[in-house]
Amino acid sequence: MRNTSKKHLDNYTFNRQYSTCKPNITTEILNGLLSVPKHLSPKFFYDQKGSELFEKITNQPEYYVTRKEISILQTNCNDIANTITKTPQHNISLLELGSGNSTKVQILLETLRPNTYIPIDISETFLKENTLKLTDAFPWLNIHAISADYCHALPSLPPNLGKKVAFFPGSSIGNFEPAATLSFLKNIAKWIEPTGGLLIGVDLIKSQETLNLAYNDLDGVTAAFNLNILCHINRLTQAGFKPHQFKHKAFFNNAASRIEMHLESTIEQSSVINNQTITFKAGESIHTENSYKYSIDSFSHLAKQAGLKPVKVWTDSENWFSVHYLESI
Ligand code: AVI
Repeated sequence: MRNTSKKHLDNYTFNRQYSTCKPNITTEILNGLLSVPKHLSPKFFYDQKGSELFEKITNQPEYYVTRKEISILQTNCNDIANTITKTPQHNISLLELGSGNSTKVQILLETLRPNTYIPIDISETFLKENTLKLTDAFPWLNIHAISADYCHALPSLPPNLGKKVAFFPGSSIGNFEPAATLSFLKNIAKWIEPTGGLLIGVDLIKSQETLNLAYNDLDGVTAAFNLNILCHINRLTQAGFKPHQFKHKAFFNNAASRIEMHLESTIEQSSVINNQTITFKAGESIHTENSYKYSIDSFSHLAKQAGLKPVKVWTDSENWFSVHYLESI
């Protein structure tokens, strides 16, 4: 049994922050499915089953992303800490966007030694469970967990945080469309003012074969993850999609520098949401995700446009993945 006595919770506080105007989910789904081409937001991947399948993807041999980023953080944690603490400051607060199970941040905590760690995640249960584990492992650390949908709006922060360093690992930035990427980086630049930093994981352009394999693993875990979005949509809207009548498609679109994921209807079929019929021709697909891949230069250029100064970049020996440290100008 976990010990969650008062003593263990002394360094832990919790805060819930959601905007009051929640968009109507059914309308959002319906708009996407009635568009040409049909599309769904990748946020609908992450129900309980989808989050478990994503965790499984990160362990697939073909999905290099997680492995490479962890190895970059492990190899360079001292240099990363030295780079972040180069400018004199009294204290540092590390703010992690999409903290999940906080695995990656633990590599940095001992070397960076921030005063405060602020994990931010949409899943309240997951957030509480994982951050409580950290209170035991890092008793010297103040932990202020915030449950919020940071893609919608960055949460407001407690005062007196010292130097604010945002941490956004996993190349989650790759799932934002280009215009949204720029405005998100601009918002982070404002959020960490006046003298903060951003440590961000960014997946790099590489051979199409490697990229295509990473999103078409041989065990079919990515296919199951993609198809599971239909089960989630069925629960949210009673659409009655039959996942076995769709197939997973993922490929690198070179011109757009992105992996695209689609669900292709194998037969002519239709479904109904709110009395509106969604029809599919055989071979017609729903676009479910883009995962943009950058060069170091293209990402640094974007960061500068957003008002962030590139300070240092770490990569793995094959140059498949990068971790950028940027500071407010
Ligand atoms: C969460 N995100 C960075 C993953 C990616 O690689 O774009 C999501 C994913 N989709 C399929 N596999 C992994």
